Amino acid sequence: MAEPQVAYFTYRHQPLKALYIVYAALVLFVVRTPYWVITNLLPAWRPRRSWPLSRVLKVNTIREVLRIAFQTSIGIFLADSEQLAKSAAEVGFVWIEPDPTLIGGEIKAAAKINDVEPARIGGVWYGQRGPDGRVGQQAGPDEKVIYELHGGGWVIGNATRSWDSAYMCDEMIKYADGYARALQIEYRLAQAAPFPAKNGFPAALIDAITGYNYLVNVVGFKPANILVSGESAGGALAFALTRYLVQSRLPTLSPPGALFLLSPTSDLGRTYFGAGSSVEKNDDSDYVQWFLKGYGVRALLGNMPLEEAFTNSWISPAGARVPRVEGQFAGMPPTLIMAGGAEYTLDEQKVLRDRLVEDNGRDAVAYVELPDTTHIVLTEAWHEPERTQGYEAFAQWVSKVNSDVKSAEYLA
Ligand SMILES: *[C@@H]1O[C@H](CO)[C@@H](O)[C@H](O)[C@H]1NC(C)=O
Repeated sequence: MAEPQVAYFTYRHQPLKALYIVYAALVLFVVRTPYWVITNLLPAWRPRRSWPLSRVLKVNTIREVLRIAFQTSIGIFLADSEQLAKSAAEVGFVWIEPDPTLIGGEIKAAAKINDVEPARIGGVWYGQRGPDGRVGQQAGPDEKVIYELHGGGWVIGNATRSWDSAYMCDEMIKYADGYARALQIEYRLAQAAPFPAKNGFPAALIDAITGYNYLVNVVGFKPANILVSGESAGGALAFALTRYLVQSRLPTLSPPGALFLLSPTSDLGRTYFGAGSSVEKNDDSDYVQWFLKGYGVRALLGNMPLEEAFTNSWISPAGARVPRVEGQFAGMPPTLIMAGGAEYTLDEQKVLRDRLVEDNGRDAVAYVELPDTTHIVLTEAWHEPERTQGYEAFAQWVSKVNSDVKSAEYLA
């Protein structure tokens, strides 16, 4: 890996944990923030000239809060569906049952290594409810739906209103013509030492398949009417899910109609570094670093050797050392990759785009890079005007994909 392995969760035990949080919060407000204000006073001193001072402070603060989280374990916990199920009606919660027969091939083999079984998972619905006020109503004959996989570096995040992806679900429904609801799932998050190792690859992918199967075979959506989306690690998961559906040719589960990847994290080995790389150029204009310094990779790999972070195309589809096999990513539905020009992980997103184009042709892949924009902009209400530009580009792409499908049907 490009970065040296760093220590995580040094201050996880009480009372050290509480003391450290108080100390770090004080330093953040009393020392760091005034220092950032002074050192970024002039636009020319900022990571990007176009950035207002407030954005510099926001990005720096998120980066620091994530560092504190990964030092103390505050906020780092696995989502609890049982807990969520207790307020099912308010939050739009449903239980989703797995179908073990859907898991095969390389994914089944990896599941053995990490001792992962298909499991019942929680799901949370956004948008329109049924006439009785309940969620999970049967799909209309040609109803479209968004299937959103949240981010959080494989180790944090959840499907509820208190995580940023909920905002993205609301906004996607608002902007994309013809979509009235979205489903998120509580896919299993991975965990590694110093905590008990849990839910290594492909636990999350198996859960993503479970959720997709629910949409098609329980709620009744046609696969062509499903738009799979995901941001950050959720983008990598959305990509792996779609690839799995394409390649395993399951008789009961065709691939989705479209795929939207926002800032997909697709090189866990961090194989693009050095002068001119995005990890060097954009180190001060992004905040994702602590997701990528080792813990998340160890958690996701579980019992798999570290080498797999470099060579496994399911885990690092854009990695420089992943052996490229002909047609590796072929057969994918129309895909939009949306990246920010100020992202730490920009390079791997461009490689993912290039590999998709190689295997699917130029017309199948849309790429939007918003200038001077940090990670997962569509979850950030404060990142204007780029947030709105991003949603507008997303909406345009959605209409284009859907009108292309219509005219193809007409021609046939
Ligand atoms: C979801 O994440 C937020 C932010 O970390 C947290 O406050 C909330 O408790 C989480 N919810 C669940 C059900 O895990």
